[in-house]
Amino acid sequence: METLIEVRKLKKYFPVLGGVLKRKVAEVKAVDNVSFKIFKGECFGLVGESGCGKTTLGKTIIRLHDPTDGSIYFDVPEDITKEIEELERNDPKSHRLKELRRRYDLATYRGTMLANMRRRMQIVYQDPTTSLNPRMLVKDIVAEPLIVQGLAKGLEARKRVLEILDKVGLTERHLYRYPHEFSGGQRQRIAVARALVTNPDFVVLDEPTSSVDVSVRAQLLNLLQDLQKDLNLTYIFISHDLSVVECIANRVAVMYLGKIVEVTQTEELYKNPLHPYARALFSAIPIPDPTVKRKPIILTGEVPSPVNPPTGCRFHPRCQYAMEICSKEEPQLRDVGNNHLVACFAVD
Ligand SMILES: Nc1ncnc2c1ncn2[C@@H]1O[C@H](COP(=O)(O)OP(=O)(O)OP(=O)(O)O)[C@@H](O)[C@H]1O
Ligand SMILES: [Mg+2]
Repeated sequence: METLIEVRKLKKYFPVLGGVLKRKVAEVKAVDNVSFKIFKGECFGLVGESGCGKTTLGKTIIRLHDPTDGSIYFDVPEDITKEIEELERNDPKSHRLKELRRRYDLATYRGTMLANMRRRMQIVYQDPTTSLNPRMLVKDIVAEPLIVQGLAKGLEARKRVLEILDKVGLTERHLYRYPHEFSGGQRQRIAVARALVTNPDFVVLDEPTSSVDVSVRAQLLNLLQDLQKDLNLTYIFISHDLSVVECIANRVAVMYLGKIVEVTQTEELYKNPLHPYARALFSAIPIPDPTVKRKPIILTGEVPSPVNPPTGCRFHPRCQYAMEICSKEEPQLRDVGNNHLVACFAVD
């Protein structure tokens, strides 16, 4: 499988300002040293409880946030990323490494180079009532990315808008309407059309189906899947709803307090979650068969603050398997077989 995105040691810290002078007094470590790959054409699910950094990770990858540290390689040939990895290990101060990172590491891009990449990466937010400008007509909402990025205007833009509206199941007669004249599901279709109008390769879907009810949710999911095939898209799909992620994602990563603690094929993860946090999370999914009983694992204690995360494994204060090492050393993601990666000392 070809890699579309490789993220290495990515960090995003937000400053916490305090005092009369509004100086930085602390940092929210929203994404803290995260590494993973996303393959071309896959749907990569991202789950974890509220505040664990899912949205921040999605937005940082597409540079809607400036990363604090780390690298993002977007559609970079594998021999180049390998060379960079070797140089980072053996010759971290070399000119060659500096040059390669300047050319290929999206985290270092600015100005025109960044602007040129924007077309290829888009995002769809949870709530179209806030993400779509209520004072703009559908035709302008959908055309805006084309105009702003200088990709098309006038008749050409209109043609492109109609093309993409057709793909999401809307038509010419919707062009001269405002967002409030649509149902929630249709509004989300407009948001999808706007994201896809620049013909991107990669789309961050941040809880795209959470604002609509169940019947519409299935239609939207089908639409997203059809579009993915049709337009060769690669997705990150962020959701609280584990059953939605199960039906759309090829692989899933579980986040806890700014870290990825487990990542593997969807089927494998849902059948056999290994990280104690993932186990607790997945034990809470209702099973449709009433004869099967599963005891939900109740997590004790509160989610710690990302300003002062626990030392060692961030989950150790709430973990029933915690050992001495867990509070001292940080477990790294490692493959326990079949591309099942987990960051936990208690899993062998
Ligand atoms: N712009 C910001 N400035 C400061 N802190 C932020 C900002 N955005 C997010 N945070 C903080 O970063 C952490 C991660 O937030 P994020 O929105 O990424 O979580 P999430 O997993 O998407 O949560 P949810 O499931 O509720 O959407 C939280 O502690 C949040 O308060
Ligand atoms: Mg979020």
